[in-house]
Amino acid sequence: MRHSRILGVGRHLPERVVTNAVLGTMMDTTDEWIQQRTGIRMRRYSDDGVGAADMGADAAQQALRAAGLAAGDLDCIIFATLSPDVDMPASACLLQHRLGIGGMPAFDVRNQCSGFIYGLAIADMFIKAGTYEHVLVVGAEVHSTGIDLTTRGREVAVIFGDGAGAVVLGPEPDERRGILSTHLHAEGRFAEKLWLECPSTRLRPRVTEELITGDEARIFPKMDGRYVFRHAVTRFPEVIREALDANGLALTDLSLLIPHQANLRISQMVAQALELAEDQVFNNIDRYGNTTAASIPIALSEALDAGRIHDGAVVCLASFGAGFTWASALMRW
Ligand code: COA
Repeated sequence: MRHSRILGVGRHLPERVVTNAVLGTMMDTTDEWIQQRTGIRMRRYSDDGVGAADMGADAAQQALRAAGLAAGDLDCIIFATLSPDVDMPASACLLQHRLGIGGMPAFDVRNQCSGFIYGLAIADMFIKAGTYEHVLVVGAEVHSTGIDLTTRGREVAVIFGDGAGAVVLGPEPDERRGILSTHLHAEGRFAEKLWLECPSTRLRPRVTEELITGDEARIFPKMDGRYVFRHAVTRFPEVIREALDANGLALTDLSLLIPHQANLRISQMVAQALELAEDQVFNNIDRYGNTTAASIPIALSEALDAGRIHDGAVVCLASFGAGFTWASALMRW
């Protein structure tokens, strides 16, 4: 069976840089606390009026250029986001229109930090099955308009940032190269450990003034940080080993691990648990914070630009996030 491989990668980071010191003027927090607990020094916030699809379209255009393809060459568009531009239709449809194309399928994947790998897995299956030749997978998030930028929301607010990344996949005839395998998991019983409850179809109406301004502020994401942390440092190593085992490879064969950028401490603990060398793990959370579905394609794009991925490199993408969901994708470049 043919494989799929990544033909081009792109990223979009909004220009507005928000340092920890700037957050300290909005809420009771300090640069020292944020750096110590998360490794984040700054993040980017989008401009007003810019949605996930706008940023995703820019990243997609770069990925298409890198792949040497035109937008019209795409057979399918998959858009991973937890912050779609609007409740409906899918941001994938809005992005398709922005790219000036139409007709091919376009849909969203709502799987938070694992959304990009879930999207990649679907794209890989479509290509392997011979259904499509060229599939665009985008991860894009605008968090800054949806977080509580007061002391009440500080535990969540300091972590997240805005951004977008995209890859274009195409067929790879050599079975030893391209995407070797993908591994997806979910455990819905932990849904409330990291969730955004409102607007909700369970409520009539779905959102009220009280839900927005009341003490509970249920329109903002809520997280049991320590609980998420504990699960993340277990699931990441598990799903990385699963990918290597499935392909008869060892941790020493791994050229580069690109983990979802959740928290630098999580990535460091994962690297330690797997006894990976520093140059085997890519981190850029210090500059962008956690950009959820966008973090892996942004990191992949930067790793390529930095020359960290050579021809034939074994690259593992891995994620953990709300749901809980966790996933990995192993590829030979
Ligand atoms: N600034 C200053 N103090 C803060 C703060 C902030 N932004 N956020 C929380 N605090 C305070 C807490 O109120 C608490 O105060 P207390 O001891 O007086 O009660 C103290 O800091 C310690 O809080 P705690 O939650 O124990 O800190 P932590 O070391 O667990 O770090 C997280 C908090 C959120 C950074 C950490 O739990 C984490 O990264 N979890 C995983 C999050 C994640 O990855 N989410 C995305 C899913 S992929």
